[in-house]
Amino acid sequence: MQVYLDHAATTPLRREARAAWLAAADEVGNASSIHGYGQGARRLLEEARERLAAVLGCDPIEVVFTSGGTEAVNLAVKGLWWARGDGAEAIVLPDGEHHASLDAVEWLRTNEHAAVRPVRLDGAGAIDPEEFAAALPGAALATALVANNEVGTVNDAAALAGAAASAGVPLHLDAVAALGQVPVSFRTWRGEAEGSAGLCALSVSAHKVGGPAGVGGLVVSRRARLSPLLHGGGQQRGLRPGTQDIAGAAAFAVAAELAEAERETEAERVRALRDTLVRGILSTVPGAELLGDPVARIPGNAHLLFAGASGETLLFLLDQAGVAVSTGSACQAGIPEPSHVVQAMGRTDAEARQVLRFTLGRTTTPDDVATVLGVLPPAVERARAASGTPSAARS
Ligand SMILES: Cc1ncc(COP(=O)(O)O)c(C=O)c1O
Repeated sequence: MQVYLDHAATTPLRREARAAWLAAADEVGNASSIHGYGQGARRLLEEARERLAAVLGCDPIEVVFTSGGTEAVNLAVKGLWWARGDGAEAIVLPDGEHHASLDAVEWLRTNEHAAVRPVRLDGAGAIDPEEFAAALPGAALATALVANNEVGTVNDAAALAGAAASAGVPLHLDAVAALGQVPVSFRTWRGEAEGSAGLCALSVSAHKVGGPAGVGGLVVSRRARLSPLLHGGGQQRGLRPGTQDIAGAAAFAVAAELAEAERETEAERVRALRDTLVRGILSTVPGAELLGDPVARIPGNAHLLFAGASGETLLFLLDQAGVAVSTGSACQAGIPEPSHVVQAMGRTDAEARQVLRFTLGRTTTPDDVATVLGVLPPAVERARAASGTPSAARS
């Protein structure tokens, strides 16, 4: 039996999203064409934009469809940087961000001499709003995760956005891991911010909520100053030109609506399963430790440290036993990297290689949890033996 506990990597396509996708893919027409076919395509596209805007708490015109979360984050970070005011040369970048933000900022640092102002994470993986606020004055922009995709810790997005508004700094929030898990509202978080200060842009991605991969969106406030990455036919306020992927947009809108409609009931169900999993692991695997905030946490995320066991080895052993999980961290050229998020939480490099992320979702059942609890303890034993960790050092 196969158990899929990697919903944070991608979550299965929803039947309804697939149906909307296929139906829209069969429509002929470029949404920019004047004739009836074009108008039909435009109607489908604008309906998708309206439905997604309702989920995200913004105006339809503020939704810019992209090719996924990575493009949305790059558009926000680079776009805000290129449109910055005179004299602002720093980017506020908390530790432990997703690689889409980290690498976009690194590119600006290397190629455009951006100065980076890091903000430390606390031991639970949260951004301290006060430290974040202290880094803001005079910055060109700030970026932050709403929820950490690895350890699942949920940040105080309202406090981060409020601090950016007070400091007059444009903020991008990466809500890719948060959408469908915790409340997300662009309007609420933007509040009364003026002009291009405060929350200006928010990234989301379809495949994290049961839509297709390769489709995403960036909410861009009407008042934000943002330069495009691409140049072309002027579509989407000129912020993301190119003939639009209507089928992808339609599928994303349906998936996001369903994810939002069932968010509270699913959160309760999935959290209960997750808590059973965590309790079971802590009581059967000596030396296992739950990382991340136990309360301010994505409902389906269980992120554990197994001291003395390589996360990569464990992942491999669990895969052989039919259980798909993740270490959460990137793999560069086939060589597993220690998790930069776990390192940012003050853990050692060795510990940052001994973690596993289990992410549950809407297809997860109690049987899945029972299966993991059966196969995990011997897998940890084997992984520890493989790395030569004596049992006394484990608990
Ligand atoms: C927090 C976060 N931001 C951005 C991305 C990138 O999104 P996409 O896979 O749609 O490019 C991901 C994907 O894992 C993510 O978890």
